[in-house]
Amino acid sequence: MPPETHLKTRPLHKSLACEVEGPRLWEPLDPDTVAALRELWSRWGVLVFRRQALSELELAQFCALLGPLERTVRTDWASPSVPEVTVLSNLKDGLGHPIGGLGDGELEWHSDQSYMVKPATGAALYALELPPAGGETFWVDLRAGYAALPRKLRQRVTGQRGIFDYANRLAGYGRDSDQNISEEARAQTPPVTHALVRAHPETGERSLYLDSTTTIGIDAMDTATGIALLDEVYECATRDEFVYAHQWRVGDLVLWDNGFTMHRRTPFDPAARRLMKRMTLQLDPHRHVMPDGRLARSGEGMPV
Ligand code: OGA
Ligand code: MN
Repeated sequence: MPPETHLKTRPLHKSLACEVEGPRLWEPLDPDTVAALRELWSRWGVLVFRRQALSELELAQFCALLGPLERTVRTDWASPSVPEVTVLSNLKDGLGHPIGGLGDGELEWHSDQSYMVKPATGAALYALELPPAGGETFWVDLRAGYAALPRKLRQRVTGQRGIFDYANRLAGYGRDSDQNISEEARAQTPPVTHALVRAHPETGERSLYLDSTTTIGIDAMDTATGIALLDEVYECATRDEFVYAHQWRVGDLVLWDNGFTMHRRTPFDPAARRLMKRMTLQLDPHRHVMPDGRLARSGEGMPV
Protein backbone atom coordinates (compact mmCIF):
# COMPACT_ATOMS: atom_id res chain seq x y z
CA MET A 1 0.00 0.00 0.00
CA PRO A 2 1.28 3.48 -0.81
CA PRO A 3 2.06 5.45 2.35
CA GLU A 4 -0.68 7.81 3.56
CA THR A 5 0.18 11.45 3.05
CA HIS A 6 -1.27 14.88 2.74
CA LEU A 7 -0.03 15.06 -0.84
CA LYS A 8 -2.67 15.93 -3.38
CA THR A 9 -2.14 14.53 -6.82
CA ARG A 10 -3.71 15.21 -10.19
CA PRO A 11 -3.16 12.93 -13.18
CA LEU A 12 -1.99 14.83 -16.26
CA HIS A 13 -2.26 11.84 -18.61
CA LYS A 14 -3.93 8.46 -18.39
CA SER A 15 -0.83 6.46 -17.53
CA LEU A 16 2.13 8.86 -17.51
CA ALA A 17 2.59 12.11 -15.60
CA CYS A 18 0.95 13.31 -12.45
CA GLU A 19 1.06 16.71 -10.77
CA VAL A 20 1.92 16.73 -7.09
CA GLU A 21 0.26 19.64 -5.34
CA GLY A 22 1.36 21.01 -2.04
CA PRO A 23 4.97 20.29 -1.29
CA ARG A 24 7.25 23.25 -0.81
CA LEU A 25 10.41 21.60 -1.99
CA TRP A 26 12.70 24.20 -0.48
CA GLU A 27 11.57 23.11 3.00
CA PRO A 28 12.69 19.90 4.71
CA LEU A 29 10.39 17.00 3.80
CA ASP A 30 9.36 14.36 6.29
CA PRO A 31 10.18 10.70 5.52
CA ASP A 32 6.53 9.81 4.79
CA THR A 33 6.35 12.49 2.11
CA VAL A 34 9.61 11.28 0.58
CA ALA A 35 8.32 7.69 0.58
CA ALA A 36 5.09 8.82 -1.07
CA LEU A 37 6.99 10.74 -3.75
CA ARG A 38 9.16 7.72 -4.50
CA GLU A 39 6.07 5.58 -4.88
CA LEU A 40 4.35 8.10 -7.17
CA TRP A 41 7.48 8.43 -9.28
CA SER A 42 7.85 4.71 -9.84
CA ARG A 43 4.16 4.45 -10.83
CA TRP A 44 3.69 7.56 -12.98
CA GLY A 45 7.14 7.96 -14.50
CA VAL A 46 6.76 11.74 -14.74
CA LEU A 47 5.99 13.98 -11.73
CA VAL A 48 5.27 17.69 -12.04
CA PHE A 49 5.64 20.24 -9.24
CA ARG A 50 4.56 23.82 -9.94
CA ARG A 51 5.56 27.14 -8.36
CA GLN A 52 8.83 26.01 -6.83
CA ALA A 53 11.48 28.56 -5.86
CA LEU A 54 14.74 26.68 -5.48
CA SER A 55 18.38 27.61 -5.30
CA GLU A 56 20.80 25.15 -6.92
CA LEU A 57 21.62 23.81 -3.50
CA GLU A 58 17.95 23.31 -2.61
CA LEU A 59 17.31 21.60 -5.93
CA ALA A 60 20.24 19.25 -5.33
CA GLN A 61 19.21 18.59 -1.73
CA PHE A 62 15.66 17.72 -2.73
CA CYS A 63 16.79 15.36 -5.49
CA ALA A 64 19.31 13.68 -3.18
CA LEU A 65 16.34 12.55 -1.04
CA LEU A 66 15.18 10.45 -3.99
CA GLY A 67 18.46 8.84 -5.05
CA PRO A 68 22.22 9.30 -5.21
CA LEU A 69 23.13 12.26 -7.42
CA GLU A 70 25.35 11.61 -10.39
CA ARG A 71 27.73 13.93 -12.19
CA THR A 72 27.42 13.27 -15.92
CA VAL A 73 30.22 13.05 -18.48
CA ARG A 74 29.19 16.57 -19.59
CA THR A 75 31.31 18.35 -17.01
CA ASP A 76 31.36 21.21 -19.52
CA TRP A 77 27.63 21.75 -18.81
CA ALA A 78 28.00 21.58 -15.01
CA SER A 79 27.10 24.53 -12.83
CA PRO A 80 30.22 26.26 -11.51
CA SER A 81 28.78 26.38 -8.00
CA VAL A 82 27.08 22.97 -7.60
CA PRO A 83 28.76 20.48 -9.96
CA GLU A 84 25.89 17.96 -9.76
CA VAL A 85 23.64 20.58 -11.40
CA THR A 86 23.70 20.61 -15.20
CA VAL A 87 22.83 23.88 -16.89
CA LEU A 88 20.74 23.59 -20.07
CA SER A 89 20.42 26.87 -21.91
CA ASN A 90 20.94 28.79 -25.12
CA LEU A 91 22.35 31.73 -23.13
CA LYS A 92 25.96 32.89 -23.31
CA ASP A 93 28.19 34.52 -20.75
CA GLY A 94 29.84 37.93 -21.12
CA LEU A 95 32.61 36.43 -23.25
CA GLY A 96 30.18 34.79 -25.63
CA HIS A 97 30.69 31.26 -24.28
CA PRO A 98 27.61 29.05 -23.82
CA ILE A 99 26.65 28.82 -20.13
CA GLY A 100 25.25 25.29 -20.56
CA GLY A 101 24.20 22.56 -22.96
CA LEU A 102 21.65 21.78 -25.66
CA GLY A 103 21.16 25.27 -27.13
CA ASP A 104 17.87 26.10 -28.87
CA GLY A 105 17.56 23.19 -31.30
CA GLU A 106 15.08 20.38 -31.54
CA LEU A 107 15.81 17.27 -29.49
CA GLU A 108 14.26 14.10 -30.86
CA TRP A 109 12.92 11.18 -28.80
CA HIS A 110 15.65 10.06 -26.42
CA SER A 111 16.36 8.58 -23.02
CA ASP A 112 19.07 10.31 -21.01
CA GLN A 113 22.26 8.38 -20.37
CA SER A 114 21.29 5.51 -22.67
CA TYR A 115 24.86 5.68 -23.97
CA MET A 116 26.20 4.62 -20.56
CA VAL A 117 26.66 1.02 -19.43
CA LYS A 118 24.86 1.91 -16.21
CA PRO A 119 22.57 4.83 -17.00
CA ALA A 120 21.46 6.93 -14.04
CA THR A 121 17.79 6.91 -15.02
CA GLY A 122 16.39 9.57 -12.68
CA ALA A 123 16.18 13.11 -14.03
CA ALA A 124 14.86 16.44 -12.80
CA LEU A 125 14.43 19.57 -14.91
CA TYR A 126 13.70 22.94 -13.35
CA ALA A 127 12.52 25.92 -15.39
CA LEU A 128 13.99 29.35 -14.64
CA GLU A 129 13.54 31.26 -17.91
CA LEU A 130 11.31 30.25 -20.81
CA PRO A 131 10.85 31.40 -24.40
CA PRO A 132 7.42 32.77 -25.35
CA ALA A 133 6.94 29.88 -27.80
CA GLY A 134 8.59 26.52 -28.48
CA GLY A 135 10.97 24.77 -26.11
CA GLU A 136 8.17 22.43 -25.07
CA THR A 137 9.03 19.02 -23.69
CA PHE A 138 7.09 15.81 -24.37
CA TRP A 139 7.35 12.45 -22.65
CA VAL A 140 6.22 9.09 -24.02
CA ASP A 141 5.19 6.05 -21.97
CA LEU A 142 7.08 3.01 -23.27
CA ARG A 143 4.97 0.62 -21.19
CA ALA A 144 2.06 1.67 -23.40
CA GLY A 145 4.44 1.60 -26.38
CA TYR A 146 5.32 -2.01 -25.65
CA ALA A 147 1.72 -3.05 -25.09
CA ALA A 148 0.75 -1.50 -28.43
CA LEU A 149 3.26 -3.40 -30.55
CA PRO A 150 1.60 -5.85 -32.90
CA ARG A 151 2.32 -9.41 -31.76
CA LYS A 152 4.78 -10.15 -34.56
CA LEU A 153 6.76 -6.98 -34.02
CA ARG A 154 6.85 -7.67 -30.28
CA GLN A 155 8.29 -11.10 -30.97
CA ARG A 156 10.92 -9.64 -33.28
CA VAL A 157 12.26 -7.22 -30.63
CA THR A 158 11.97 -9.50 -27.61
CA GLY A 159 15.41 -10.77 -26.64
CA GLN A 160 17.15 -8.23 -28.88
CA ARG A 161 19.71 -5.70 -27.71
CA GLY A 162 19.98 -2.24 -29.21
CA ILE A 163 23.39 -0.69 -29.82
CA PHE A 164 23.59 2.79 -28.32
CA ASP A 165 26.38 5.16 -29.31
CA TYR A 166 26.87 8.63 -27.86
CA ALA A 167 28.74 9.70 -31.01
CA ASN A 168 25.49 9.26 -32.93
CA ARG A 169 23.61 11.49 -30.51
CA LEU A 170 26.34 14.13 -30.57
CA ALA A 171 26.24 14.32 -34.37
CA GLY A 172 22.62 15.47 -34.12
CA TYR A 173 23.33 18.47 -31.90
CA GLY A 174 23.19 21.89 -33.53
CA ARG A 175 26.12 23.64 -31.82
CA ASP A 176 29.83 22.85 -31.89
CA SER A 177 30.01 23.35 -28.13
CA ASP A 178 27.45 20.54 -27.66
CA GLN A 179 28.93 18.23 -30.31
CA ASN A 180 32.51 18.43 -29.10
CA ILE A 181 33.40 16.48 -26.00
CA SER A 182 36.65 16.06 -24.11
CA GLU A 183 38.95 13.09 -24.63
CA GLU A 184 37.99 12.00 -21.16
CA ALA A 185 34.25 12.08 -21.96
CA ARG A 186 34.88 10.18 -25.19
CA ALA A 187 36.80 7.50 -23.30
CA GLN A 188 33.83 7.12 -20.91
CA THR A 189 31.27 6.67 -23.70
CA PRO A 190 32.12 3.71 -25.93
CA PRO A 191 29.16 2.05 -27.71
CA VAL A 192 27.01 -0.06 -25.39
CA THR A 193 24.09 -2.45 -25.78
CA HIS A 194 20.84 -2.62 -23.80
CA ALA A 195 17.95 -5.07 -24.00
CA LEU A 196 15.08 -3.39 -25.86
CA VAL A 197 12.44 -4.96 -23.61
CA ARG A 198 12.62 -4.66 -19.83
CA ALA A 199 10.33 -5.67 -16.97
CA HIS A 200 9.43 -3.64 -13.89
CA PRO A 201 11.13 -5.27 -10.87
CA GLU A 202 7.95 -5.23 -8.74
CA THR A 203 5.06 -5.59 -11.15
CA GLY A 204 6.77 -7.44 -13.99
CA GLU A 205 5.11 -5.04 -16.41
CA ARG A 206 7.09 -4.85 -19.62
CA SER A 207 8.31 -1.74 -21.34
CA LEU A 208 10.61 -0.76 -24.18
CA TYR A 209 14.00 0.82 -23.65
CA LEU A 210 14.76 3.08 -26.60
CA ASP A 211 16.56 6.22 -27.71
CA SER A 212 16.05 7.30 -31.31
CA THR A 213 19.00 9.74 -31.23
CA THR A 214 21.50 7.17 -30.00
CA THR A 215 20.64 3.72 -31.37
CA ILE A 216 22.73 2.72 -34.38
CA GLY A 217 21.49 -0.81 -34.83
CA ILE A 218 20.66 -4.08 -33.15
CA ASP A 219 23.28 -6.45 -31.78
CA ALA A 220 23.78 -9.52 -33.96
CA MET A 221 21.81 -8.06 -36.89
CA ASP A 222 23.24 -6.35 -39.91
CA THR A 223 23.00 -2.57 -39.64
CA ALA A 224 20.27 -2.02 -42.20
CA THR A 225 18.01 -4.75 -40.80
CA GLY A 226 18.51 -3.47 -37.25
CA ILE A 227 17.76 0.12 -38.16
CA ALA A 228 14.67 -0.87 -40.14
CA LEU A 229 13.35 -2.85 -37.16
CA LEU A 230 14.06 0.02 -34.78
CA ASP A 231 12.26 2.45 -37.10
CA GLU A 232 9.16 0.26 -37.00
CA VAL A 233 9.32 0.14 -33.21
CA TYR A 234 9.81 3.93 -32.85
CA GLU A 235 6.88 4.57 -35.15
CA CYS A 236 4.59 2.29 -33.21
CA ALA A 237 5.76 3.21 -29.69
CA THR A 238 5.48 6.99 -29.93
CA ARG A 239 1.80 7.34 -30.81
CA ASP A 240 0.24 10.61 -29.59
CA GLU A 241 -1.98 8.89 -27.07
CA PHE A 242 1.09 7.66 -25.16
CA VAL A 243 2.54 11.17 -24.96
CA TYR A 244 2.34 13.76 -22.22
CA ALA A 245 3.04 17.29 -23.51
CA HIS A 246 4.33 19.61 -20.82
CA GLN A 247 3.59 23.32 -21.07
CA TRP A 248 6.40 24.86 -19.05
CA ARG A 249 5.89 27.65 -16.55
CA VAL A 250 8.71 29.30 -14.64
CA GLY A 251 9.11 27.47 -11.33
CA ASP A 252 8.09 24.06 -12.72
CA LEU A 253 10.12 21.09 -11.59
CA VAL A 254 9.59 17.89 -13.56
CA LEU A 255 11.01 14.52 -12.48
CA TRP A 256 11.08 11.60 -14.86
CA ASP A 257 12.20 8.01 -15.07
CA ASN A 258 14.27 7.31 -18.18
CA GLY A 259 13.92 3.56 -17.65
CA PHE A 260 10.54 3.34 -19.42
CA THR A 261 10.08 6.74 -21.09
CA MET A 262 11.62 8.86 -23.81
CA HIS A 263 11.33 12.62 -24.12
CA ARG A 264 11.75 15.20 -26.85
CA ARG A 265 11.89 18.97 -27.06
CA THR A 266 10.72 21.38 -29.73
CA PRO A 267 13.13 24.09 -30.94
CA PHE A 268 12.69 27.74 -30.06
CA ASP A 269 13.72 31.17 -31.28
CA PRO A 270 17.49 31.59 -30.76
CA ALA A 271 16.86 35.22 -29.81
CA ALA A 272 14.61 34.14 -26.90
CA ARG A 273 16.00 33.10 -23.52
CA ARG A 274 15.64 29.65 -21.98
CA LEU A 275 17.37 28.59 -18.78
CA MET A 276 16.84 25.19 -17.16
CA LYS A 277 18.67 23.41 -14.36
CA ARG A 278 18.96 19.71 -14.47
CA MET A 279 19.78 16.91 -12.01
CA THR A 280 20.74 13.32 -12.75
CA LEU A 281 20.25 10.62 -10.15
CA GLN A 282 20.34 6.90 -9.70
CA LEU A 283 17.01 5.22 -9.09
CA ASP A 284 16.48 2.18 -6.89
CA PRO A 285 16.72 -0.94 -9.10
CA HIS A 286 14.23 -2.73 -6.83
CA ARG A 287 11.54 -0.16 -7.59
CA HIS A 288 12.31 1.15 -11.06
CA VAL A 289 12.88 -0.38 -14.46
CA MET A 290 16.62 -0.66 -15.05
CA PRO A 291 18.45 -0.94 -18.33
CA ASP A 292 20.96 -3.80 -18.41
CA GLY A 293 23.90 -2.28 -20.26
CA ARG A 294 26.98 -4.05 -21.55
CA LEU A 295 29.87 -2.79 -23.59
CA ALA A 296 29.25 -3.43 -27.28
CA ARG A 297 31.67 -5.83 -28.89
CA SER A 298 34.07 -3.70 -30.85
CA GLY A 299 33.12 -3.24 -34.46
CA GLU A 300 29.46 -3.98 -33.68
CA GLY A 301 27.05 -1.70 -35.43
CA MET A 302 29.79 0.06 -37.33
CA PRO A 303 28.74 1.10 -40.80
CA VAL A 304 29.71 -1.53 -43.35
C1 OGA B 1 17.06 16.81 -20.61
C2 OGA B 1 16.37 17.26 -21.82
C3 OGA B 1 14.87 18.88 -22.69
C4 OGA B 1 14.48 20.27 -22.46
O1 OGA B 1 17.10 17.58 -19.64
O2 OGA B 1 17.54 15.67 -20.60
O3 OGA B 1 16.32 16.53 -22.79
O4 OGA B 1 13.29 20.54 -22.54
N1 OGA B 1 15.82 18.46 -21.77
O5 OGA B 1 15.37 21.09 -22.18
MN1 MN C 1 17.13 14.57 -22.28
